[in-house]
Amino acid sequence: MNYSIVKEPGHVTNLESMNCVDAGTENCPCYLALTGDCLICNRLQGKDYCGCNWAGVCIYNEFIQGNKRINNPRRDFEAKVIRRKIYNENLIVYVLDVGKGFSMKVKRPGSYLFARAKGARSFYDIPLSIMKTDVEQGYIYLAIKIISSKTKTLIQENDILMLRGPYRSGIHGISAIIDNKAKDQKILIVSKGIGIAPGALILQSLAGRASIDMIIDAEKISEEFIKDFIYPEKDTENIDIQYMSLYDKETNKKLEYLMQNNNYDSIILLVSDYYIGNLGNLVRRVLPTANLAVSNNFHICCGEGLCGSCSVDTSNGGSIKMCKCQLKGEELVKNLYQNTIIE
Ligand SMILES: Cc1cc2nc3c(=O)[nH]c(=O)nc-3n(C[C@H](O)[C@H](O)[C@H](O)COP(=O)(O)OP(=O)(O)OC[C@H]3O[C@@H](n4cnc5c(N)ncnc54)[C@H](O)[C@@H]3O)c2cc1C
Ligand code: FES
Repeated sequence: MNYSIVKEPGHVTNLESMNCVDAGTENCPCYLALTGDCLICNRLQGKDYCGCNWAGVCIYNEFIQGNKRINNPRRDFEAKVIRRKIYNENLIVYVLDVGKGFSMKVKRPGSYLFARAKGARSFYDIPLSIMKTDVEQGYIYLAIKIISSKTKTLIQENDILMLRGPYRSGIHGISAIIDNKAKDQKILIVSKGIGIAPGALILQSLAGRASIDMIIDAEKISEEFIKDFIYPEKDTENIDIQYMSLYDKETNKKLEYLMQNNNYDSIILLVSDYYIGNLGNLVRRVLPTANLAVSNNFHICCGEGLCGSCSVDTSNGGSIKMCKCQLKGEELVKNLYQNTIIE
């Protein structure tokens, strides 16, 4: 498939490949099949031929056999708060009982869900990354940076949170890294601020399967938090943690040196848009063949490819829903962050 993306008027580039993050999962076919907007299937796009590259179970067949119904629509459910811990005035962690089945489903790095306080209306929903799972107990851990209305409302809740999920597109490009069976794959993770939450889940998932260097910019993240959620994994396997301020002008040089010396197979950037552009372009220059994954920083409101809040316009007048597609990190950087200047 070929897509052209327009970031700003007049800014047109090409995007070569795009996958649906839900294709072939228990949530496929989805709402987009009903309206003729499936990202993968030509027939479900209203065409009269089959021309997709999808190698999994035929989505069209599933849809027809299933009486043209969507599979397992995600619904709100109540999760009991097991405990909460306040780390500083801006940061709180919730441990929630979601049952073993759900905690198993959100083990995959890049998983996230929508959460709100029990009494709040659905427009208070916020996307939150899964930071840690405890499948034996059926618990998940969420870290919340308190900013404004939605997060402030959510943290008033002590007993029950309303959740909806699982959603899978929290990190663009993660599939190539997670699905890579190569033992001792060398991975560099860079996280800043609350990007440490999805980073902790990657450590939990890959500890023992890969050699990981993690650079943490601990802006507004307390030492105690890092000790609780990063160090348990560090103690177990090939994990090295370093602290750097991304704001520091010398940091790019240090990262370039690290990349050149360690020749990483994969780089994961869990940072704001500015640093995705800055460091993403550095990775493309220094390690052009490495897999690159980047946090999905688009505004995500429904997560289903419906509301359009995460849309990026295409040059042919269409749009791509960044909540629903899975792009390679290098392609995302090349298309949407290519103008960021490396200082
Ligand atoms: C996939 C994903 C995973 C996330 N994981 C976490 C997490 O683990 N912990 C955490 O604290 N935060 C996480 N966030 C960000 C979190 O959803 C926002 O901080 C929250 O919605 C802010 O709401 P607010 O009303 O408090 O602040 P607002 O003032 O509304 O927003 C504060 C900032 O958050 C951005 N924002 C607001 N709504 C959204 C939205 N629906 N999607 C994305 N960004 C938004 C705003 O543009 C602004 O930059 C995640 C966002 C995404 C997209
Ligand atoms: S968040 Fe609604 S379409 Fe992507």
